[in-house]
Amino acid sequence: MEGMVAKWYATNTAKSLDEFTRLARRIGSQLPPGSTVLEVAPGPGYFCIELAKLGPYSISGLDISHTFVEIARKKAAEAGVQVDLRQGNASNMPFTNDVFDFLLCRAAFKNFGQPVRALQEMCRVLKPGGRGLIIDLRHDASPESIGQHVDAMGLNAVNRILTRLAFRFMLLKNAYTKEQFQQMLAQASFRSADILEADIGFEISIAK
Ligand SMILES: C[S@@+](CC[C@H](N)C(=O)[O-])C[C@H]1O[C@@H](n2cnc3c(N)ncnc32)[C@H](O)[C@@H]1O
Repeated sequence: MEGMVAKWYATNTAKSLDEFTRLARRIGSQLPPGSTVLEVAPGPGYFCIELAKLGPYSISGLDISHTFVEIARKKAAEAGVQVDLRQGNASNMPFTNDVFDFLLCRAAFKNFGQPVRALQEMCRVLKPGGRGLIIDLRHDASPESIGQHVDAMGLNAVNRILTRLAFRFMLLKNAYTKEQFQQMLAQASFRSADILEADIGFEISIAK
């Protein structure tokens, strides 16, 4: 079951590859060559693969799902890029302290079983002066904005309906409000954490 869902997600999101390319360009434009980057919960790996194409970065990805790690490794090999893709938990990362210049966590935070631990781990593995971006759905996203978002994903009719249902019955339920994020962020030791409302979600910029 988990494997089927992972494959469905990988195929569905492949249609939004543009979005990953744009995000990688945006992040890459701020990263000096040689930067160490972590993607927390990369799933099929589209962001870290697009970023790896852009420059000489040292990129790692950590995902709890064996199936997603396999999919991402295969896609990185097909793209001919080097990304260190590992299986593991965002709340207990297999990295030493102070190793990453930048980290990204997209469309995954709301799924974490121990979200505060995950924020504390993000803080621990970032270098002093390191930065990160968490992008996730917000609990109060309107049905209209979600409908528009799903329509723009380029899906066929069946997948469009399935994706809308997933937003309504699974994703929104797990998504956090701004106040909840503020409370959780206060329990990690970031130097700063700014929450911006964007589209159907938040963009949270963190700095250690
Ligand atoms: C919806 S996918 C998002 C994948 C990717 N970031 C993207 O933008 O397409 C959510 C991912 O979070 C991963 N995940 C869930 N809980 C996790 C945890 N505790 N630690 C690491 N990864 C986790 C899942 O395995 C899945 O790959």
